[in-house]
Amino acid sequence: MAQSLTAYNTFGIEASCDQLFRFQSEQDIQDWLAGLTIAADKFFVLGGGSNLLLLDHVPLTFLQADIQKISYQESGDEVTVTAGAGVNWHQLVLDSLDKGYAGLENLSLIPGNVGAAPIQNIGAYGVELEQRFISLSAVDLYSGERRVFTHEECQFGYRDSIFKGELRGRYIITEVTLRLYKKTQLVLTYGPLMNLSETTESLTAKDVSDEVIKIRQSKLPDPSKLGNAGSFFKNPVVSIEQYQELKTSFPDIVAYPVNNSHMKLAAGWLIDQCGLKGYRQGDAGVHQQQALVMVNHGNASGHDILKLAGHVRDTVLAEFGVRLEPEVWIIGQQDVF
Ligand code: EPU
Repeated sequence: MAQSLTAYNTFGIEASCDQLFRFQSEQDIQDWLAGLTIAADKFFVLGGGSNLLLLDHVPLTFLQADIQKISYQESGDEVTVTAGAGVNWHQLVLDSLDKGYAGLENLSLIPGNVGAAPIQNIGAYGVELEQRFISLSAVDLYSGERRVFTHEECQFGYRDSIFKGELRGRYIITEVTLRLYKKTQLVLTYGPLMNLSETTESLTAKDVSDEVIKIRQSKLPDPSKLGNAGSFFKNPVVSIEQYQELKTSFPDIVAYPVNNSHMKLAAGWLIDQCGLKGYRQGDAGVHQQQALVMVNHGNASGHDILKLAGHVRDTVLAEFGVRLEPEVWIIGQQDVF
């Protein structure tokens, strides 16, 4: 017996798992685990399915926390919001802005659910989730116990946290608590947002959100129209020495400082320079507006996307000597990455 996952992944790829269980509360999860006989290493926790590449049938039991509540608490100039793991991320951003609270505007229109946001420390346009993060609650799939994780315990990094490393597959996140602001503290450091500070004096968080939405819509394909999982690769981090060598050969290379010894390269630029923007292998393609995004033009399988991504990685490696690592989670048997 297989459960289709086609509606549960934004690549829109035909895939399936053994079973899928969705839970409306933390208590439901704990009750279900208490009466269970399946080994916890046969579970996979599904968020919004917006950062996944599924390969055919995945022989696992998928669990999804479909917890929908949002609650706010004010204290002085600060506000905290606690949102259930199943809340759509962008709905949370809009709901908080509607209430007049700033803080999440740069993270507008990121696909996926609240519960998945801390796992890869979502980030865009100068802000990462960890800058707003206070804590999260999760249930241990092995013991059924509830645990609260502080900021420090999550070990956030660039598109990374403890839930992608040491604790991968161990917990199902049920709710996330974030810090918002009543007084706006806008972050306009990202290139295209800098223009905003010059155009408007009384700029609001909603204005920034509207601009981010505009930028995203112009570059990133809407998954409901063209299957994709956002950036397929991470932006690679290289040593200053390697960056300087690359800069000599490729003076226009796009990079951002990470610390005194490392630079982060724009993977989209590297792929673009290889002439791969808009490149297709059947229905698997490199997006025409943003080369870091792989897209499903219709009936691509998970393996088709994987083959294309392998070709992109190999081409960039041959041209620049830089190896791209996937940002999406590849779920199923494969030997490409
Ligand atoms: N670029 C090109 N050609 C391309 C794509 C990009 O030349 O085809 C250049 C751009 O002109 C720009 C630079 O590369 O100078 C960076 O591009 P962009 O601003 O679009 O951002 P990115 O580094 O490609 C990252 C995140 C995105 C996030 C944006 C905005 C990663 C892996 N990706 O992309 O996150 O929305 O910055 O902050 O860090 C995601 O994680 O799924 C995602 C979409």
